[in-house]
Amino acid sequence: MAEFAVQSEGRSEGIVIKDDWPGYSLDLFSYPAHYSGDLDCVIIPHGVIMDRTERLARNIMDDLGDHAIVVLCVLKGGYQFCADLVDRIKDLSHNSNRTIPMTVHFIRLKSYLNDESTEDLHILGGEDLSFLAGKNVLVVEGIVGTGKTMKTLLKHVEAFGPKMIKVAGLLVKRVLHSSACVPDYVGFEIPNRFVVGYALDYNEYFRDLNHICVISNTGKMKYKI
Ligand code: HPA
Ligand code: MG
Repeated sequence: MAEFAVQSEGRSEGIVIKDDWPGYSLDLFSYPAHYSGDLDCVIIPHGVIMDRTERLARNIMDDLGDHAIVVLCVLKGGYQFCADLVDRIKDLSHNSNRTIPMTVHFIRLKSYLNDESTEDLHILGGEDLSFLAGKNVLVVEGIVGTGKTMKTLLKHVEAFGPKMIKVAGLLVKRVLHSSACVPDYVGFEIPNRFVVGYALDYNEYFRDLNHICVISNTGKMKYKI
């Protein structure tokens, strides 16, 4: 991980989606009818997510493909990205003469209520990560906002003595005053708007949506708690 302003060599911010990009009209794609009216636009279609994930898998294999990888999937928002990323790494591994053993573990973080980040971060299932000692660890996260959550998590993981920690984040938000970290592998850099779909939720809704979309005000009101 690096400070936000510093881009080390080879690191990429991924596909950059600009602030003034309006997204695609929902009418151009299919999506669950139960979310009609709850979304403003499609910001990243599912197919593009899959194509970008395939390339990230290759970059990860190029960097880490010589040793076993312990994947640490950050639930719940990271489950779909993690599953697809692991699948692509497996494809590459099976189709080359370098096969790398991978194990997958899950931890759960919770810090959001409605569309606001709360102060208290809960790490569930992360009490004993002693199996990470001496291992190459790949933390897989769906979205990195301020980076505060990620920073806290990394401190927690580092305490168990892994040999190396890399972070793959599908989305990184462009937020002001980002104190913390950017992932080593980034799918997309996106505007600072609340997005849902592809396992990212708003109060547990929208995980069953394939595309990454911007939630509408109607949607926010409807599922507010
Ligand atoms: N969507 C869903 N979950 C999130 C987001 C978001 O935009 N930012 C941080 N967690
Ligand atoms: Mg969430």
